[in-house]
Amino acid sequence: MTRLATKWGVMAGLLATSLLTSCRYDGTGTKMQWAPDMADSAANKSQRSYLDPPEGSRSMTAILYPKTPEEAEVQFAMPEAIANDERGLEKGKKLFETYCQVCHGADAKGGHINPAIAPPDLTHPTVYVPRKDGFFFYRITFGANVMPGYGYATTPAERWYIIRHLRTLQKGA
Ligand code: HEC
Repeated sequence: MTRLATKWGVMAGLLATSLLTSCRYDGTGTKMQWAPDMADSAANKSQRSYLDPPEGSRSMTAILYPKTPEEAEVQFAMPEAIANDERGLEKGKKLFETYCQVCHGADAKGGHINPAIAPPDLTHPTVYVPRKDGFFFYRITFGANVMPGYGYATTPAERWYIIRHLRTLQKGA
């Protein structure tokens, strides 16, 4: 009886130790950032500037981002690889629910947070429906005034799927 109790005691001790040590933060991990627009701003940081790449050169690994939504409409179009089928649309819906719905509402008509910063109706037939996909890609990446950018949290592909879903909502409006 006592031997069994000792055994359990030792096991509980081991479990507690491993739980405690596994939760300790050693200061080397990456901390979570929420909307780190200011930390990762486009401004050159002192001691960290770099020379501009030669004119006309193109990065093989980075997307060269446009400076305005209008530029984005010209430069970016929905890639063919973004599936326009049931699975693709389902993906877009999930991502929209994760990143956008909290403020824009499930129907994207807005008005679900503080009315003082009410997000606009993204299904508006003359304001947003005619905008090209690149416009929405730009807005999701960089945000708009009070709206935080989600470029840090989403992959480019995920942003395109969100736009697919937004188009579905616009058609249903
Ligand atoms: C924290 C709340 C919030 C979240 C989350 C959010 N938005 Fe917004 N969004 C806003 C507000 C507020 C505006 C109005 C910004 C302004 O012009 O002042 C806005 C504006 C927009 C606009 C219009 C911009 C323009 O130039 O007219 C688009 C498009 C948009 N949001 C898309 C999205 C998408 C897609 C997502 C999900 C990836 C998203 N938003 C997530 C709050 C939010």
